[in-house]
Amino acid sequence: MPEYKLVISGGRELRGEANVSGGKNTSLAVIPATLLAEFPCQIENLPDIEDVRVLVRILKALGAKVDWHPEAKQMQIDPGSLTSNTVPFALSQKMRASYYLMGALLGRYGYARVGYPGGCDLGSRPIDQHLKGFRALGASIRDETGMIVMEGKLRGANINFDMVTVGGTINVMLAAVRAEGDTIMTNCAKEPHIVDTANFLNRIGGHIRGAGTDTIRIHGVSRLGGASYTVIPDQIETGTLMIAAAATRGDVTLHGCIPTHMEALTAKLLEMGVMVTSQDDIISVKLRQGHRAIRLSTQEYPGFPTDLQQPMSALLTRAVGTSEVIENIFESRFKHLDEMRKMGAKAVINGRVAHIEGVPELHAAPVYAPDLRGGAALVIAGLMAQGMTEIYNPENIARGYEHLESKLNHLGAKITRESCVNEVNGDAVRV
Ligand code: EPU
Repeated sequence: MPEYKLVISGGRELRGEANVSGGKNTSLAVIPATLLAEFPCQIENLPDIEDVRVLVRILKALGAKVDWHPEAKQMQIDPGSLTSNTVPFALSQKMRASYYLMGALLGRYGYARVGYPGGCDLGSRPIDQHLKGFRALGASIRDETGMIVMEGKLRGANINFDMVTVGGTINVMLAAVRAEGDTIMTNCAKEPHIVDTANFLNRIGGHIRGAGTDTIRIHGVSRLGGASYTVIPDQIETGTLMIAAAATRGDVTLHGCIPTHMEALTAKLLEMGVMVTSQDDIISVKLRQGHRAIRLSTQEYPGFPTDLQQPMSALLTRAVGTSEVIENIFESRFKHLDEMRKMGAKAVINGRVAHIEGVPELHAAPVYAPDLRGGAALVIAGLMAQGMTEIYNPENIARGYEHLESKLNHLGAKITRESCVNEVNGDAVRV
């Protein structure tokens, strides 16, 4: 794909209806989980995003047969043809969720050789808890010139995580589902995609209880079959569109979402003076007047999600009053605010705390998408700003949002892709 930038003509209200796509972080766990099956699986409602494309390349490198129909949101995976248990470093570095190949391959073959995971730069992102869980299940782990090699016959164990980790909870669940005997995992994360991954594994014959609580009990089974499974809607895409609707003082109705997954965000939007209503799988968001500043603190589910902190703090740059945003999950997740200062935002960042003083207006500027949700935050900033905002490095956004520009354009935004191959621009060529 040629290098491009997004150009947003700001100041337009978003109005109308949109469908929410399938969950990114669920898909990125369920696709590797299919490798634990003996028979083909069909996954439905998959988003057409770059991270899924990378995962398909990884599965193919392992020898799996993958038949993906992005337009039908459907993928068939036949894990019976696997010929390798090594995930090349170059591919594992392209995304965070490559770490799920560790649990899946270890659980299936008792051996995995996987490069260290990549993903958004949000500060230090160790995987010690994943490895601690694999070790407790009986795997020996060594580092072979930058590749993590894990092997051993897995047996059920009691594992207490030192901190709540989404990736660690899912990864150890993947490894334990076919281990001999019983595993009890405590201090688990409770995110909706953990429940969805457990539901998928149970659908193909796993015996997992308690996903969605802090204690997950797994009775290991010797075989897993195949099945068809539909992944849940994307909680973070839903939230991003809700915030975008409020940011433009618009009136948007989203279909195909799960309102209970959105309670933390909904509560904060209501506190700010945004109207949010929901019924069945529909959420409507409307804002007529200005919105108020709030205090916001990210937490594990069901608390306020760190992935929505960035879009939400973009919205807060135009609130009446000064907001305080505390980022408890990642050590460095405010880079989008540095970019937004170029657009007139007023934010003071002190480690994990940002104080954001609302301004009446933002103005357009060239900005650089620092990471996936930071990029989405800048899109929201561009929708609010007067003039033509240019977002460089939008590939970061395409990693995790399905056709975000077209969805927003359908709601009345004006966002175009323009080539920037020949540009010599300080922001664009930052290294
Ligand atoms: N942590 C450790 N050791 C570990 C694991 C985690 O110290 O072994 C720390 C992390 O450094 C972090 C905290 O624990 O400070 C939470 O990390 P967690 O493991 O929960 O996050 P993750 O698995 O790396 C997933 C999502 C993120 C999302 C977080 C939190 C995927 C592929 N990634 O990351 O999604 O922000 O959970 O909900 O599922 C995104 O979609 O933009 C994104 C970054």
